[in-house]
Amino acid sequence: MNKEKIIVTSALPYANGPIHLGHLSGAYLPADIYVRYKRLKGDDILYICGSDEHGVPITITADKENVKPQDIIDRFHSINKESFEKFGMSFDIYSRTSLPEHHETAKEFFLEYFNRGLLKEKKTLQFYDESKSMFLPDRYVEGTCPKCGNEGARSDECENCGALYEQTELVNPVSKISGNRPILKETTHWYFPLSEFQSRLEKYVNETNEKYGWKETVLQYCRSWFNEGLKDRAYTRDLDWGVKVPLDGADGKVFYVWFEAVLGYISATKELSKLRGNENLWKEYWQNPDTKYVAFIGKDNIVFHTIIFPAMLMAWNDAGKEQYILPQNVPANEFLNFEGKKFSKSRNWGIDAIDFLKEFPADPLRYTLAANLPENRDTDFYWKEFQARNNNELADILGNFINRTFTFVHKHFDGVVPQKFELEQRDIEMIELLNQYPEKIADYLERYKIKDAVTEIMNLARTANKYFNDSEPWKSVKTNREKCSTSLNISLQTIYTLAELFSPIIPFSSEKIFKMLNSNFVGWNESGKENLREGHKLNIPEILFVKIEDSVIEEKMKNLGSTSELTAKEKEVLPQITYEDFMKTQLCVAKIIEAEKVNKSEKLLKLKVDLGDEQRQIIAGIAKAFSPEEIIGKKVIVVANLKPAKLMGLESQGMILAVENESGSLNLLEVDNNISLGTRAK
Ligand code: MF3
Ligand code: ZN
Repeated sequence: MNKEKIIVTSALPYANGPIHLGHLSGAYLPADIYVRYKRLKGDDILYICGSDEHGVPITITADKENVKPQDIIDRFHSINKESFEKFGMSFDIYSRTSLPEHHETAKEFFLEYFNRGLLKEKKTLQFYDESKSMFLPDRYVEGTCPKCGNEGARSDECENCGALYEQTELVNPVSKISGNRPILKETTHWYFPLSEFQSRLEKYVNETNEKYGWKETVLQYCRSWFNEGLKDRAYTRDLDWGVKVPLDGADGKVFYVWFEAVLGYISATKELSKLRGNENLWKEYWQNPDTKYVAFIGKDNIVFHTIIFPAMLMAWNDAGKEQYILPQNVPANEFLNFEGKKFSKSRNWGIDAIDFLKEFPADPLRYTLAANLPENRDTDFYWKEFQARNNNELADILGNFINRTFTFVHKHFDGVVPQKFELEQRDIEMIELLNQYPEKIADYLERYKIKDAVTEIMNLARTANKYFNDSEPWKSVKTNREKCSTSLNISLQTIYTLAELFSPIIPFSSEKIFKMLNSNFVGWNESGKENLREGHKLNIPEILFVKIEDSVIEEKMKNLGSTSELTAKEKEVLPQITYEDFMKTQLCVAKIIEAEKVNKSEKLLKLKVDLGDEQRQIIAGIAKAFSPEEIIGKKVIVVANLKPAKLMGLESQGMILAVENESGSLNLLEVDNNISLGTRAK
């Protein structure tokens, strides 16, 4: 078969939070498996990804944490890049949309449309938060979905029913930054005339599907949008974070994130071209009608990849200059849930990739997720299943087969590939199976049926174990050495095939197996042949998969759902204060020199504290947490300029700082002994 030229992309994740297992199994792992397989086939492929660094999700996170968007994207770009590396993602580049190359590309497309008069300038009413003096684009507003009544729906799309709408259609809108009901205020924006592209888009989706077989779920989404009728969409937003609109008088306006993020695939490829010292490399892919483009995404991104991005590319192509290719397939996945419920940071439900990979190697996770991809419906990650897949499949089936074969060959055949003699029926069948396997698996992978491919490859390992058992080399080694030698030769060829077929799924382990075989990849199509020559020297086997104890899994289960960190929502949100406001509070170091219970009170302790140049009486509500004896001598922080107040008839001349957790236990804010009494904290 001819070598294909391919571009594969995975959705550019927002750099506003850590990647979790749900993300991995939606748009990343399946793409990586596909790409690794294609590379083994010898296809000419580029795999592109990067951080999506604009958009309201990022500015909202920054607002919440009271930092700059730049801080958020820098933090999560590097965390996510590292998570992906540890997980074995084989991107050719992991770029970011804050790079100048991307801003230039985004502006180039916009100006092309603008100069041709394609974009429609419109004055509209938009939500505006008077208390914050800002427009409230996208997720800055929440409300009730106008289509399905889902409360807490986003302002541009409903996560519940998938509807797309203008934010002003939201029922009961609420500003996310102040909690107030926004007012409507006039503003000017440029609209992309999506409606004018409807019939061409329908034709594109239908024809591409007929030729290349799109997933039914993806087609259904497209059809429902077409049935609704495509509406023009605003290309711009009133925000100061993003790609600035390159027009006079457009201050304070940036592109809507989706109209530039999808172009991030192209700008990232340009970036890669620079890195590879071939500035025009990207054109050989994106502007080459022979290139196949496959976009891997999660289902919430379908409209942007099957409708908006193709429409943008069509609109560019209409100029009659360079012609961009459109996606040939968009194998979107459904969602992965966690132990039966949606991933939720605030409820501490789920696990981030970076944390997972600190504790467990990547391959068992890759295998578990791959065997359970949400290809046609939502699926779940279960800790117990992870353990079972690791212990009962990777270790007991694959690992065991490899280990027993190697051990036997080292013990009885000097660690070299034994000779093959006369074949029995069982041997012939095993060899035939090996011959068929690469094509069989390729057939699944070409159709993006990755889960089925994974199941089938493990089935080969199962059959291999059975072959080993039925051949009984431990008997034949004494009774019929030629027979024994033959079956071990075939077992080793099987290991070879397994190593290659499994390599897109568990690349780290596959590499180890090749090292043990003292050999290398031959290329997908050849992998089912007998590749190890008789007499070839093997290396010493190493442990491939370590079993996971019950106690480890129990510990994981125990910690689920227990929130140790409060989310922004759960934290009390107070109005901002100025530096000067804060400096009005005089926080000083003091030492507790006397403490006694207050009569008839369970809660109060009467303290005497030393502020260096004066002593004060403080009545503190800490008696349930501390006995008088244990706090004497502690150096704490007190609010020294608090107006005196009377508690149970006693005057309190200040307040001690402490923090309380949900179960009511207290921590005093203490300082080191080497700090002088009376020192001001600021
Ligand atoms: N950042 C988006 C998300 O995480 C995905 C963007 S995909 C792109 O949902 F193509 F627009 F980049
Ligand atoms: Zn809805």
